[in-house]
Amino acid sequence: MSQVRRATAQAHPNIALIKYWGNRDAYWRIPANDSLSFNLAGLWTRTTVAFRPDLDADRLVLHGREVTGPGLARAQRVLDRVRAASGLTWRAEVVSENNFPMGTGIASSASAFAALALAAAAAAGLDWPEAALSRLARLGSGSAARSVPGGFVIWRAGQGDEDSFAYTFAAADHWALADCIAIVSARPKAVGSSQGHDLAATSPLQAARVADAPRRLALAQDAVLRRDFAQLAEVVELDTHLMHAVMQTSQPRLLYWQAASLEVMHAVRAWRAAGRPVAYTLDAGPNVHVLCPATHADSVAADLAVLPGVTEVRVATVGGPARLLSDDTPRN
Ligand code: DP6
Repeated sequence: MSQVRRATAQAHPNIALIKYWGNRDAYWRIPANDSLSFNLAGLWTRTTVAFRPDLDADRLVLHGREVTGPGLARAQRVLDRVRAASGLTWRAEVVSENNFPMGTGIASSASAFAALALAAAAAAGLDWPEAALSRLARLGSGSAARSVPGGFVIWRAGQGDEDSFAYTFAAADHWALADCIAIVSARPKAVGSSQGHDLAATSPLQAARVADAPRRLALAQDAVLRRDFAQLAEVVELDTHLMHAVMQTSQPRLLYWQAASLEVMHAVRAWRAAGRPVAYTLDAGPNVHVLCPATHADSVAADLAVLPGVTEVRVATVGGPARLLSDDTPRN
């Protein structure tokens, strides 16, 4: 056992303010447009990777349960790249857990593949820079590329594998924003993101959404840099509606919203019209991410919790980068 090469990493999920929807190259996960997000502090995935000479096959254990099939194959894409780069041929045991229960509807693939990328590279002895780790995470899940760097992040689509990675454009402490996640359904979604990305091009609206993406991204980046919540709110809601318009007009049509999602959207619109700094965004699911300055998070979360159909509200602030954990690192 002394030969085991092991490392543990922790990563946060992220919420996209300018969305990634559709790939130019699905195999390499080269997205159709640049995207912008911030990491969600307080929510994390922790993953230990152990390359061992005594294993016949890779193993993935998620919350104490063995994962096989496509889930394991996705993790192996990351492990295989690490083996190829390091020369290590041993199989790996991957043990992972989230502090947000799966089934709450909070996407876990971003934090999962960011943590896997860091842990696998470190376990194999690769001392890679952040951009290379972001590229590695992207092979497992596109949005995971954005969970490697900390704070406010841009993922440049790039031309191919080498230049498609994410970087920090403002540190986590630049602006104290909060994401109050109104959970309206814990059911697994009918059509997952990877399948959805493949359908994006079937919508006649996707080309227009992608063509306007650089303008929206510039507005969102400028709003973050100047801490202009009103400007951010406008462009974030526009971007989310453009993505959902594409989803709703692809073949087959994807309708992720539930009645309760609309209740929350209407409430947020009314609150903002009354002068409250709030804005919403939705990913490929019915739960509504309500953004606000962190000073408003308690009152926004309390008001969300009593809306019809909201079963739970999780509050996250802006989080740091994915990082390696040593055995004596404080676990928080
Ligand atoms: C709607 O990163 O989950 O959350 O690359 O297939 O794993 P894969 O897709 P994923 O897609 C995220 C889509 C989104 C928008 C976003 O986070 O930008």
